[in-house]
Amino acid sequence: QVAAASGHTVVLVDQSEEILKKSTKGIEESLKRVTKKKFADKPEAGVQFIEKTLKNLTTSTDAASVVHSTDLVIEAIVENLDVKNELFKRLDKFAPEHTIFASNTSSLPITQMANATTRQDRFGGLHFFNPVPMMKLVEVIKTPMTSQKTFESLVDFSKAVGKSPVSCKDTPGFIVNRLLVPYMMEAVRLFERGDASKEDIDVAMKLGAGYPMGPFELLDYVGLDTSKYIIDGWHSLEPNNPLFAPSPLLNKLVEEKKLGKKTGEGFYKYK
Ligand code: 3HC
Repeated sequence: QVAAASGHTVVLVDQSEEILKKSTKGIEESLKRVTKKKFADKPEAGVQFIEKTLKNLTTSTDAASVVHSTDLVIEAIVENLDVKNELFKRLDKFAPEHTIFASNTSSLPITQMANATTRQDRFGGLHFFNPVPMMKLVEVIKTPMTSQKTFESLVDFSKAVGKSPVSCKDTPGFIVNRLLVPYMMEAVRLFERGDASKEDIDVAMKLGAGYPMGPFELLDYVGLDTSKYIIDGWHSLEPNNPLFAPSPLLNKLVEEKKLGKKTGEGFYKYK
């Protein structure tokens, strides 16, 4: 959405037409929200902006067949290293020489994905934040193999889509998630111990620390499955680190398919 809105030609790829239809509808809704604000005094210009953005956007269910005409691939599939590596390995065969590959992973090692391809120097991380149209940050990740030219291209692209890039080495969680995920897990542990209600913890962090959402609202917003993938991955890397300890409550909710806002229930219920 943000790439198309800033004039880039985008092909959105997913597994089925049904998912693509849902995604396109989501983009249209989000564009309306952005436009309402951006073109508050010029509704006609707003309509044109939406039309122009949607013209920049096509969809496909076959990544290999569309990758031949791309300069940049941004992967944002399931947080599973094997599945990501398989995709990158396949795309590497079909993509032009100059094409840069980037992963939007929240927590997995970019270096290992780059090693699944023959373009380690043209591989980096581009980590966006939910909701991407609103959140200004992008973390640009440089592995020891990412060339300076690739890194600069990723920084330039981030600026071209209207974001503020920061750079970070390929370390677990980069900057934001390395700080945010342990904080959210500590909130769950506080609640699990019965020290405070989740509602009070959320109110406390909003009014006492100025966060726009409390930790339980944010966990539901990000998705409890995604949060569990992240913490489980780190726990297997550092089993003795108490900040990365799994939470029985989080595990139970994920097992019950209560994944947060997207499924209608997580820590809270949604209509
Ligand atoms: N598309 C477009 N606009 C959107 C939007 C979307 N998806 N979601 C919200 N907005 C806009 C609304 O239209 C609204 O615009 P307005 O100010 O003109 O009315 C504005 O954002 C505020 O929205 P709301 O009034 O509905 O609600 P809030 O004031 O609570 O703001 C929020 C919503 C921007 C999501 C805010 O609560 C927030 O910043 N929350 C924290 C988000 C956060 O921490 N994200 C990082 C998560 S971690 C992550 O993503 C990393 C990953 O790897 C796990």
